[in-house]
Amino acid sequence: MNTVITSDSALVAAELAAGKIVAVPTETVYGLGANALDGNAVARIYEAKERPRFNPVIVHVKSFSEFEKYAEEIPQSVKTLADRFSPGPVTYILKKKNVIPDIVTAGNDSVGLRIPDHPVFQDLLAQCGFPLAAPSANMFGRISPTTAEEALKELGGRIEYILDGGRCSVGIESTVISFLNEPPEILRKGAVTREQIEETIGAIASDDKRDRLLSPGLLDSHYAPRKPLLIADDMPGDKILSELNACFLDLAKFGDLRNIAVNLFTEMRKLDEAGCGVIVCTKVENSGIGEAINDKLQRASCGKISFVNGSPVITNLKYA
Ligand code: TXA
Ligand code: MG
Repeated sequence: MNTVITSDSALVAAELAAGKIVAVPTETVYGLGANALDGNAVARIYEAKERPRFNPVIVHVKSFSEFEKYAEEIPQSVKTLADRFSPGPVTYILKKKNVIPDIVTAGNDSVGLRIPDHPVFQDLLAQCGFPLAAPSANMFGRISPTTAEEALKELGGRIEYILDGGRCSVGIESTVISFLNEPPEILRKGAVTREQIEETIGAIASDDKRDRLLSPGLLDSHYAPRKPLLIADDMPGDKILSELNACFLDLAKFGDLRNIAVNLFTEMRKLDEAGCGVIVCTKVENSGIGEAINDKLQRASCGKISFVNGSPVITNLKYA
């Protein structure tokens, strides 16, 4: 199958209405979209991404007024958060209504709803008139695409169209918050931070219960390059890098944390395609969006590297 990058949103809307899947731009990362009300179309997403069927996909809607069509018992705190952060990078996990096919939610009785803040996606939703199910447009477990060209690298040959919306302005996935219990709980760290959420709706659950959750964003290994990625405490010198045949994932060059997030996946992908055999990085400042960036680095990594008397010691290899 030949995959074409297009700017023709009317064409893409028609394809989606016909039950096809198309990669589409959002402000976070590119998504692989399908009509969320068409179970057969959503099944094609799982197939194309080789995503396990137990991982539910997010449903994207145009505005908050649509939430009540797809979710029940929406707490006031959702409205309060949506007033501040939506459209934007927040996904609300709510009790689902029956109109959402089981395949979207992987059989769970909850649904993730998000209002994307990207003009091209918003325009597409208006043309479609139905909500769009869209997980990130990467092969399962791999690095999410943040440009149309990267989406082509991930899914080229598997889908017919990629709708071009330029580079994603956020660069990492939405914050996923569950409202199924009181207090609400962050299931996946993202662009909107815990501090911002707590400032808006008060205290939410602590993150120590996360392991029990079935979210691919919470699998230990995710967002991963094909090469081993090692996390170092300090930046290694050139000599050690060359001895290890490693390249250094230099995030500091992007300046502030927001700009690091915008460039994170692209930079990881570049080094994955570079000549070295190993990628080494250091974590970023663990505050604000830095927490989500470090979470991605941790899940992308397969081990740690430290330096004892100048010699590298590698530990915690997940795939040793
Ligand atoms: O920024 C984003 O959220 C991007 C763009 C395309 O919108 N989408 C995205 O989708 O990251 P995906 O499928 O790669 O990640 C969605 C996350 C997963 O961790 C999934 O398990 C979780 O949200 N999720 C979706 N529906 C859920 C549900 N009903 N219950 C619990 N977790 C859910
Ligand atoms: Mg994903």
